[in-house]
Amino acid sequence: MTTAKKINKQIKIIGCGKMASAILDAWLKKSIFPQNIYVDDPNPSEWLLDKKKIGLNLNTKADIPFDYCFIGVKPQSLNEIELKLKTLAKKNVTFVSMLAGIKINRLEGIIGKDESIVRIMPNLPAEILKGVTAVKENARVEPKQSKSLAILLQAFGEIVKFSEERKFDAVTAISGSGPAYIFLIAELMTEVGINLGLSYDEAFKLVKHTIDGAGSLIVNSPLKPQKLRENVTSPGGTTHEALAVMMNKDNGLQKIFLAAIKAAAQRSKELSEV
Ligand SMILES: NC(=O)c1ccc[n+]([C@@H]2O[C@H](COP(=O)([O-])OP(=O)(O)OC[C@H]3O[C@@H](n4cnc5c(N)ncnc54)[C@H](OP(=O)(O)O)[C@@H]3O)[C@@H](O)[C@H]2O)c1
Repeated sequence: MTTAKKINKQIKIIGCGKMASAILDAWLKKSIFPQNIYVDDPNPSEWLLDKKKIGLNLNTKADIPFDYCFIGVKPQSLNEIELKLKTLAKKNVTFVSMLAGIKINRLEGIIGKDESIVRIMPNLPAEILKGVTAVKENARVEPKQSKSLAILLQAFGEIVKFSEERKFDAVTAISGSGPAYIFLIAELMTEVGINLGLSYDEAFKLVKHTIDGAGSLIVNSPLKPQKLRENVTSPGGTTHEALAVMMNKDNGLQKIFLAAIKAAAQRSKELSEV
């Protein structure tokens, strides 16, 4: 592990379950000393408890000047940590919320309108430094804070900055929930492989590296996905046969994806209106 690019910021994390642990794991692997991280979580995982050995501060009462406070509880637990957030206000902390559906104005109502508050929507591949995080800052975030936050977030993947918070329902439906769609495709392709006579190990190995390779091609090729698809589809060939079914206008994937992802965006909208 290189120490050349360590980020020297004091970070508090309130609520460290699946998502915040994925982010924390990436930071510890790459960019932040564990001694600079202060986690509050009532029932820490074995993984978190183990990080105490390398210096992570877990459920301590340290009153130090934090640069960032990452909020990683479930949206429905936000009211439980209101007091904790209020005590961190007026101390030049940048608050970063990853809570799906919780709007910036709700956070401003709790923490204060004059506080720097950022809403993010990360996704699970952050764990392997391949996340993509949507970012929306409130008007109080200074360019300097924004720049150093970008470095922190880029430690676990790419970022996409938004000026309109209303786009977060679409973001949640695309990249927040998106990994689950790809996991489902992996499950289904593996099942079909088994159905066609492959063993689980054979099918799964073929599927996972196909998805990994195709994903890398999308990221690294100058060609758009449509062109990549057309390039591997010869008329009358095997891929053509499969795509004729998948792209059927009446009951193909386009309709299913539209309905499914719209349902996710609608759910995100409903949750943010609660
Ligand atoms: N998972 C994803 O892919 C994903 C993607 C984007 C955004 N998010 C957002 O990230 C947030 C966390 O999601 P998650 O999937 O990581 O959920 P999670 O695994 O349930 O994590 C939440 C953590 O907060 C802890 N907690 C509960 N009450 C607390 C309190 N009063 N003080 C401090 N910690 C408390 C929970 O402990 P207990 O388990 O003991 O209750 C748990 O460890 C959510 O707001 C979600 O919308 C998640």
